[in-house]
Amino acid sequence: MDDLDLSERARKLFAGPIDFLKSAPGLEFLPDAEAPEVAFAGRSNVGKSSLLNALTNRKTLARTSNTPGRTQELNFFDVGQPLTMRLVDMPGYGFAEAPKDMVKRWRFLVNDYLRGRQVLKRALVLIDSRHGLKPVDREVMDMLDEAAVSYHVVLTKADKVKPTELDATLAVTLEETMKRPAAHPQLFATSSETGRGIPELRTAIVEAAAV
Ligand code: GTP
Ligand code: MG
Repeated sequence: MDDLDLSERARKLFAGPIDFLKSAPGLEFLPDAEAPEVAFAGRSNVGKSSLLNALTNRKTLARTSNTPGRTQELNFFDVGQPLTMRLVDMPGYGFAEAPKDMVKRWRFLVNDYLRGRQVLKRALVLIDSRHGLKPVDREVMDMLDEAAVSYHVVLTKADKVKPTELDATLAVTLEETMKRPAAHPQLFATSSETGRGIPELRTAIVEAAAV
C-alpha cells in the first residue's frame, strides 16, 4: 500500500466509530487480546489523554485534567466497526505529589502491560516539548528496548514552545532516539490544541497496527 492510501485509510478509520471499551485497574481485567493495540505512555500531565482525543477528533472521549494523575487505569478504546484496532490510554509514570504506593501500582501496571501484551504493536512515548527527555522517560525507553517493544517518541504541546526551541528539542531527542534499538527513527511534534502532527501520527498508528 502506498503512503497516500495509508494516510487516507488512517483518516477514515479515525473519523469513523471509536468507543470506550473498558478500564482495567489490573492485568486480570484486560480485555481479550482480539485486536492490535497501540498504547500511550508518558509522564503525568504530558498530554496522553488529550492526544488520544485529538487523534480521534473527540473532545471528551478520554478524560483529561490540569491536575496530574487524572488517568489511573488502563483505558481501552475500540477503533472501527468491525473492530480494527485498540488504543490504550495509560496512567502517567507518576509525579511528586502522588502517594508513593499509588505511583508504584501504576508503574507496575503500565510496565507489566507494556512488557507482556502480545497484541501490543507499538507504544507511543510522549515527551513534553518544553522539557525534553527526562530520566524517567529514559527508564521507560530502556525497559521497552530490553523487552523489544517497538515505540515511537512523540513530542506533545508543541504550541507551547517557540519554533527554534522546538527544532532544538527535536534534534537532541532524535539523536538520542536513533541510538535506541526498539525506537522507531521518526519523531512527531504534535499539538492537541492546534492539530499539528495529528494526521501524520494517525498514519503511523495505522501502519504500526498493520490494519
Ligand atoms: P495523566 O492522565 O494525569 O497522566 O495526564 P495526561 O498525560 O493524560 O495529560 P492530559 O491529556 O490530561 O493533559 C494535561 C494538561 O495538559 C491538560 O490541562 C491539557 O489541556 C493540557 N494539554 C494537553 N495537550 C496539550 C497541547 O497539545 N497543548 C496545550 N497547550 N495543552 C495541552
Ligand atoms: Mg490521562
